Amino acid sequence: MDALAGLPLAYSVRNIRVEPNLVLAPMEGVTDLTFRRLIRKIGGAGLTVTEFIASEGLRRGAEKMEEMARIDPDEHPVAIQIYGRDPTSMAEAAKIVQDLGADICDLNFGCPSKKVCAHSGGSALLKDPVLAQQIVRAVRAAITIPLTVKMRSGFDSTQRNCPDIAWMCQEEGAEAITIHWRTRADLYSGTRAVDKIAETKQRIKIPVIGNGDIVDFASAVAMFRDTGVDGVMIGRGAIKNPWVFKQVRAQMLGLPCPAVDAEEKRHVLVDYYESCRAWFRSDRGALGRMKKISNYFTHGLPYASELRTTILRSQSVDAAIEAVNMYFDNLAEWTARGGTNRLDGSVAEEGDAAPFA
Ligand SMILES: Cc1cc2nc3c(=O)[nH]c(=O)nc-3n(C[C@H](O)[C@H](O)[C@H](O)COP(=O)(O)O)c2cc1C
Repeated sequence: MDALAGLPLAYSVRNIRVEPNLVLAPMEGVTDLTFRRLIRKIGGAGLTVTEFIASEGLRRGAEKMEEMARIDPDEHPVAIQIYGRDPTSMAEAAKIVQDLGADICDLNFGCPSKKVCAHSGGSALLKDPVLAQQIVRAVRAAITIPLTVKMRSGFDSTQRNCPDIAWMCQEEGAEAITIHWRTRADLYSGTRAVDKIAETKQRIKIPVIGNGDIVDFASAVAMFRDTGVDGVMIGRGAIKNPWVFKQVRAQMLGLPCPAVDAEEKRHVLVDYYESCRAWFRSDRGALGRMKKISNYFTHGLPYASELRTTILRSQSVDAAIEAVNMYFDNLAEWTARGGTNRLDGSVAEEGDAAPFA
């Protein structure tokens, strides 16, 4: 069968067209404005989502939360995600999200963190359908923009109840549901099981977006084929490879996968570092974020561990940029001498000089 036949290319959340139907996942400490700008610049994502924002903090006007909720005037469509357990606070925060210009307000019913679950937020709501329903109802009544919910497939293997929770959300006025196939108990391990996503898609009328371990065209197609979802969401795969949306999109249209060369990688990484410097307004804050992203981004690069170590040891943004430039200069030289000419993780041959030597 033609791998592309029948694959959806877009979906709509009421009047919001998500095309391509590839969504950047919300990721705390990652998908701030600087990272979302990087993804938008490269292209291929049809919707971006902020990291989760505490409803309590947002409604109290906490500066940090307002900063986290900042969106660019031309960043559309964009969803702002909030979490919490108090329906009134969630409703007030959702109203702020709407006033800030978000196209969509997304509720987090999936966070596995102990801190969030201990207060019955995030994935703990999957175990408390009554409270979950009160939250969706209160938020729905407070805003006019589309409301969506992101969840895990359940709390643990004995309670994989996302079809029920998704159905409840739909009946209360939610307009799309994203499901990460793992349960809360799985954290980030577990064996791929997307059956509950497929079941939810069968059960509800609003769009369902599939999430979990999508890193390329093959894994995106597998999610579409195995579940019938309307769109897919990509998280960690986009930190490792911010070109993933562009690449998956091209292949969904039957085009070749766009190659990414070393110079483009260098340019994007240095550009990102400069954005962090401007955003955090201090080397300390910027370095923390840069180191986190670099850990993912450098995966698959030859001798990446040496580059990572050097970045981790950097005491200033300038030093980190110098390390990146030196790495790519050395890599270019090494490539010219016959080393691997693709940054696709090909293993260097015995005796080759390391690009970072
Ligand atoms: C560093 C990190 C932070 C995350 N923060 C959030 C968050 O703020 N809100 C949320 O709904 N999910 C969050 N997630 C979960 C992701 O959105 C996504 O569901 C999960 O990583 C699975 O998708 P992936 O395999 O494509 O990464 C986070 C994941 C990671 C790795």
